[in-house]
Amino acid sequence: MADIGYDGKVAIITGAGGGLGRSHALEMAHRGARIVVNDLGGSVSGEGGDVSAAQAVVQEIEALGGEAVADTNSVATAEGGKAVVQTALDAFGTVDIVINNAGILRDKTFHNLTPELLEPVLQVHLFGAFYVTQPAWQIMREKGYGRVINTSSNSGILGNFGQANYGAAKMGLVGFTRVLANEGRKANIKVNAIAPVAKTRMTEELFGAAGDPMAPELVTPVVAYLASEDCDVTGEIYSVAGGVVARFFIGLTPGYYKRDLTVEDVRDHLDDIRDVEGFIIPEGPQDELKKLFETVSGGTEGKLS
Ligand SMILES: NC(=O)c1ccc[n+]([C@@H]2O[C@H](COP(=O)([O-])OP(=O)(O)OC[C@H]3O[C@@H](n4cnc5c(N)ncnc54)[C@H](O)[C@@H]3O)[C@@H](O)[C@H]2O)c1
Repeated sequence: MADIGYDGKVAIITGAGGGLGRSHALEMAHRGARIVVNDLGGSVSGEGGDVSAAQAVVQEIEALGGEAVADTNSVATAEGGKAVVQTALDAFGTVDIVINNAGILRDKTFHNLTPELLEPVLQVHLFGAFYVTQPAWQIMREKGYGRVINTSSNSGILGNFGQANYGAAKMGLVGFTRVLANEGRKANIKVNAIAPVAKTRMTEELFGAAGDPMAPELVTPVVAYLASEDCDVTGEIYSVAGGVVARFFIGLTPGYYKRDLTVEDVRDHLDDIRDVEGFIIPEGPQDELKKLFETVSGGTEGKLS
């Protein structure tokens, strides 16, 4: 089979001035994508700004013979999101791929969380994905082609201590991914999420030397595949770190059924309710609803299988 290439397709990569986004930008440009390197160049906590971050990555791409343009708009507002997409249109005339990667951290245990620690985190990660993807989505729908990759995290999927703000934003991106996957199906727009682990400025203190095998370049192959025409999946979540790729999925246990369910039934049958044997992985609400309607319209009471 031929190697994966992008044949001049236009990719917006947010937060691509360093870390994971820079790595995605370099690899995809090398394979023929035209890149909008978006980054406002702030600190890990989202303070300040430095236009040179995005510019430096554009220079790296150009030095390797690729095509890229810098964009320093913040993804955190609707105007900013539109402006990022406008940069793609002005430079390259279209957009085919959006990689929502920009992010900040403002960690605090929940009882100490303030609006100043909560709102910017939701705005950059979650609202930012809405604001950049929506204007691009209109274009993708019209041309019947698109790829969107959202950067989630095990902090939300699994629940990391001290990250209620970040975790909620990252799990919000899972819902966003799954709804868009559904809505994009008919227009050949594929939407997936990754939950990466990599040694970047965001994690280097936390991981120390143990993070050395977790180079951002080992996350990029999954993103580059999901962004390609070859991508064969939609609505999925991939765990990616240090060369390991796996799939997170949302499963549903068979459960327990009683027509006149009581509080005591829940207490007495908790093990049945939680038993994972025979679980399913619903592709969408229709799969859960089908089972539910079958059961409540005359199914046998008790532990379900
Ligand atoms: N490194 C990891 O182990 C890890 C784990 C899970 C998820 N992630 C996610 O991966 C993404 C990339 O993180 P990273 O580790 O490369 O860290 P990073 O700090 O190097 O990259 C984040 C980039 O986003 C940019 N950014 C922040 N706010 C922005 C805004 N409003 N508009 C545009 N750009 C903005 C920053 O300037 C920065 O360059 C983030 O969404 C992060 O939450 C990283």
